[in-house]
Amino acid sequence: MFDVASIRSQFPALRQDINNQSLVYLDSAATTQKPQVVIDAISQYYSAQNANVHRGSHSLTAKATSQFEAARSTVAEFINAADEKEIIWTRGATEALNLIAQTYARNTLKAGDEILIGEMEHHANIVPWQIVAEQTGARVVKVPMSADCQLDCTAFTQLLNDKTKIVALAHTTNVTGTRQPIESLIQLAHQSGAVVVIDAAQGIVHEKIDVQALNADFLVFSGHKIFAPAGIGVLYGKLAHLEAMPPWHGGGKMVEKVSFSGTTYSQLPGKFEAGTPNVAGAIALAKAIEWYCQFERSQVETHIHGLVEQTYHALNQHDDIRVIGYQPNASVISFVVDGVHHQDVATLLDQQGIAVRSGHHCAHPLMDALGVTGTIRISYAIYNDQQDVTRILQAIDKCLDML
Ligand SMILES: Cc1ncc(COP(=O)(O)O)c(C=O)c1O
Repeated sequence: MFDVASIRSQFPALRQDINNQSLVYLDSAATTQKPQVVIDAISQYYSAQNANVHRGSHSLTAKATSQFEAARSTVAEFINAADEKEIIWTRGATEALNLIAQTYARNTLKAGDEILIGEMEHHANIVPWQIVAEQTGARVVKVPMSADCQLDCTAFTQLLNDKTKIVALAHTTNVTGTRQPIESLIQLAHQSGAVVVIDAAQGIVHEKIDVQALNADFLVFSGHKIFAPAGIGVLYGKLAHLEAMPPWHGGGKMVEKVSFSGTTYSQLPGKFEAGTPNVAGAIALAKAIEWYCQFERSQVETHIHGLVEQTYHALNQHDDIRVIGYQPNASVISFVVDGVHHQDVATLLDQQGIAVRSGHHCAHPLMDALGVTGTIRISYAIYNDQQDVTRILQAIDKCLDML
């Protein structure tokens, strides 16, 4: 079994006091803390290699470019992309989804076409589709969820039809941690002729993702949810789609030749990477992936699921706590306290040094379906331990006594 104490010691942000108590960080689904090796990679880059990439011919730019492209190879290998050109750097999952909507979707959708998305999706996987639907006359169609926060697969099958051109689904949802049956949903969507977009913002850190085995057309994730800094993310797309898509942002690096009589665009991946990219972010993401890959994923997940299960059983003892859509193999657990605003609970927990997320979690449609305005979400990661579970449970008991 891996050594949680030694893992924790690699995260400097976890060694601090908040409101005079040692920090218990239970908000990794919002963003993970960063191990020292990732922080060092950023610092080393700016201390020794900083230069613009794919421009000029001096030694520093050559060094920065080679590290930047090596980072792309690391990501390609990590998700088993068939070709490095299928990896496009973005600012995060949100930007990647907008890119797909404004290039692939905007150029292929026609009035009356349908985009199928789940009711539990994050706003990042709803709003870009609504925008492109408005631009093209297409329609966003919601796949409902069941009472236990699972996608209604019967409804999904019934809603698929020859007008369905795009299916966009989370690999794992962010409020309840529902792992969706994306393998079978991708197959069904393909049989019906739709292109599939997978939002792996939550899934990427909890499962080994193999884009070739999944056969998704597009898959996106953000670096900051897998121990890398914010501001770097990945769009994976099948080569044939990316090649056929027009560029999105215009500017430097995405062009071959610019003239006032017409401009020609770069080959992939440059075509979608206008302007100076987040070089340090890409290098740090590769470092974060290398760091994380040293651990046996199944051991990490068994550890996390154990913490969630224990939390669930303890929360269930309270009559006034309602756990929302409990998923046994998740890293998150969402709950509400009867008659108490979620924000008040989160504030009382913060006063005890505990960081949780409260609110609608960028999932208004899910909140509406559940009939709540928000939840309190505890999310665990590789560095959380038994002591964290004890602290949150004691802190919740104290909150309930006070409220
Ligand atoms: C399921 C899901 N999709 C998309 C996003 C958006 O990620 P980002 O804000 O890093 O672009 C999030 C962030 O919480 C998420 O949980």
